[in-house]
Amino acid sequence: MKYYIKTFGCQMNFNDSERIRGILQSMGYEPAESWEKADLILINTCTIREKPDQKVYSHLGEYKKIKEKNPKALIGVCGCLAQRMGQELVQKAPMVDIMFSSFNMHRLPELIQQAQGGYKAIALLENPPEDEDKLWEYPTVKDNQFCAYVTVMKGCDKNCTYCVVPKTRGRQRSRSLESILSEVKALVEDGVKEIHLLGQNVTAWGQDLGIPFEELLYQVASIEGVERIRFTTGHPKDLTENIARAMGQITQVCEHLHLPVQAGSSRILKLMDRGYTKEEYFEKIDMLKHYVKGITFSTDIIVGFPTETEEDFEQTLDVLKRVRFEQVFSFKYSPRPDTPAYFMEGQATDEVKTQRMTRLLNIQKEILSEIAKAYKNTEQEVLIEGFEKGKLVGRTRTNRWVNLEGDESLLGKIVKVRVIESKPFSMEGELLEILA
Ligand code: 5AD
Ligand code: SF4
Repeated sequence: MKYYIKTFGCQMNFNDSERIRGILQSMGYEPAESWEKADLILINTCTIREKPDQKVYSHLGEYKKIKEKNPKALIGVCGCLAQRMGQELVQKAPMVDIMFSSFNMHRLPELIQQAQGGYKAIALLENPPEDEDKLWEYPTVKDNQFCAYVTVMKGCDKNCTYCVVPKTRGRQRSRSLESILSEVKALVEDGVKEIHLLGQNVTAWGQDLGIPFEELLYQVASIEGVERIRFTTGHPKDLTENIARAMGQITQVCEHLHLPVQAGSSRILKLMDRGYTKEEYFEKIDMLKHYVKGITFSTDIIVGFPTETEEDFEQTLDVLKRVRFEQVFSFKYSPRPDTPAYFMEGQATDEVKTQRMTRLLNIQKEILSEIAKAYKNTEQEVLIEGFEKGKLVGRTRTNRWVNLEGDESLLGKIVKVRVIESKPFSMEGELLEILA
C-alpha cells in the first residue's frame, strides 16, 4: 500500500506530516512517487489565510480522479482547515473519506481501518483529547537528514485578533521535557546535527509545566551531538532577558531569530492584541543584539489590517528600515471567519493592500541587497545539508543559504567558508576548513 501527502502551511504542519509519514510507515505503507500511484492521499491543510483554503479545494478536485482508476483508494483531509470547517468540508467535498485535525493524528490507524470498511472516518473534536501524547510514540520520517524539526508545544493562548490558530490548534500545551529530550537523543543518534524546536508560540514553552523556556535550550544543548539549535516562532512578549542571555551563552544556539512584528504602528498592534508597542519591540531587538553578538532577524508582517492608515503603514516601513531584517514574510490581511478582526470596521480594499505590499517589498529588496553586499568576503560557519544543481548547499548560523563546490564527504559537516559572491537570496562560498 502506498501513500501520498500534500502539505500546506507552516513548519508545524510540515512536522505533523513527517509524523504522519512515521505512523503510515509503521503500518506498512510506503511512499508513492506521485498521487496517481497512491492508495491513500492525505492533504494536510492550512487555513491561516483565504488562499490556502482555496488551494485545498482545487487539489481535492484533482485528487478525486484517483477513484476512477483505483476505486479502493482513500482520500483524507487533516490539519487546520479540517478543524475549522468540520462536517461542512465533507458536504462540500464528498470524495473525502477520512478527516481529522492535529488533535487526532495518533488515531490515524483506526481511521484508515474504518474508511477501508466503507465508512466515512471523521475524528474532529472541540478540544484536544487526553491521550494526544500517544503521538510522540511514533517516529517521524524526514527528508532532511541533518536538520530536524522537533515540535515542543502545541496550540496557542495568545488570541491575536486576526488569527485562526487558537481555534484550529487549541490551547497552549507543552510537550514534556522528557519526551522532547528523548526524541532529540534519537535524532542525534541518527546523524542529525541541527535541532529546530517548533511551536506556534515556542517561547511560551514550559509555562504550563512551571519550567522556563531557556531551561529547554540548556537541556537540549547538553545532549552530545547537538551542534546547532534554532527555535520558531518566538513571540516578542514571551522573549525574556533570561532567554536572550541563554541564547548568547549556549554556543549551539544560532545567531538568528524569527520574531514576528506584524505591524509597526502601536495603535494597530493594540488592535491586533499583540501585547507590545513598536518601542517595546525595538527594546527586545536591542536586548537580543546585546546578548547575542551578530544576531540577525526575520519577521512576519501583515499589511492592510482593518483601519490601517497611510501613517500606520509608514510605521511598518520604519520598523523594516531600523531592524533591517534578513527576511520578511509579508501577507495581505485576510479576514478569517469568527476572529475578532473579521468584525472590525475599516476593512481595507485589496487595491490598498496590494499597493502597500508592493512598497514594502521594494524597500525590503533594497535593504536585502545591502545586507547581501556586507556578507562578501566574510567567513561563515555552514552546515552542509545537501546537493543542489551539482553544488553543496548549507546554511550559515545566521540562516543564509550558501552554495559551494565539494563532494559527498562534506554532507552533514560543519565547515568554515569564505563568501566569494553574495546575492540577496544566495551566496557562493569557498571551503576554508572542516570544523566538525
Ligand atoms: N491574514 C494575513 N496574515 C495572517 N497571518 C496570520 N493570520 C493572518 C491573517 N488573518 C500571518 C501572520 C503570522 C503568519 C504565520 O501568518 O503574519 O505570523
Ligand atoms: Fe496554517 Fe496556522 Fe495551521 Fe500552521 S497553524 S497550518 S499556519 S493555520
